[in-house]
Amino acid sequence: MNASHIVLIGPMGAGKSTIGRQLAKSLDLAFLDVDQLIVDQAGADIPWIFDVEGETGFRVRETTALKGALGSQERSVIATGGGIVKLEDNRTLLAAEDAVVYLYADVETQYQRTLKDKNRPMLQNEDPEAKLQALMKERAPLYEAVSDLKAFTHRQSISEVLDEITTFWQGLV
Ligand code: S3P
Repeated sequence: MNASHIVLIGPMGAGKSTIGRQLAKSLDLAFLDVDQLIVDQAGADIPWIFDVEGETGFRVRETTALKGALGSQERSVIATGGGIVKLEDNRTLLAAEDAVVYLYADVETQYQRTLKDKNRPMLQNEDPEAKLQALMKERAPLYEAVSDLKAFTHRQSISEVLDEITTFWQGLV
């Protein structure tokens, strides 16, 4: 097999960007972050995009950025946003990839890791923990459906998760 990219999916606070950056470094792959691509393309941050264009506008930008990242000629680790599985078009793109890794963290861990972050519009409400719970209920089956490997980031160290993904990747390329 000749997998092109490692794509990291999973909820907010699962560690997609942190693990993605380290994984790319240790495997000597490029690192692409879909949220960052959206921000670069828009010239504005994510809260601004949600404010002005709504979640719908953000999702349109997200699909474009995902297509761009997956189309990259360079083998890459691609970190996505937690809502990447929301649209069917994105799920179809992800399902066609060979190395989609679902980074799982329980809701308590997601909550602790995102507590102080004001950059996530989905969590700017009265009860962010309940929101994370509701999103997981909706999205967990979708993460499961499109992923090829699931790694648990709430009860493993970063280096254990990196080892697990590295072993999986070496079996593909
Ligand atoms: C979102 C997750 C965020 C970002 C946006 C929407 C979501 O990414 O894409 O705020 O719908 O779950 P992270 O998972 O990197 O926080």
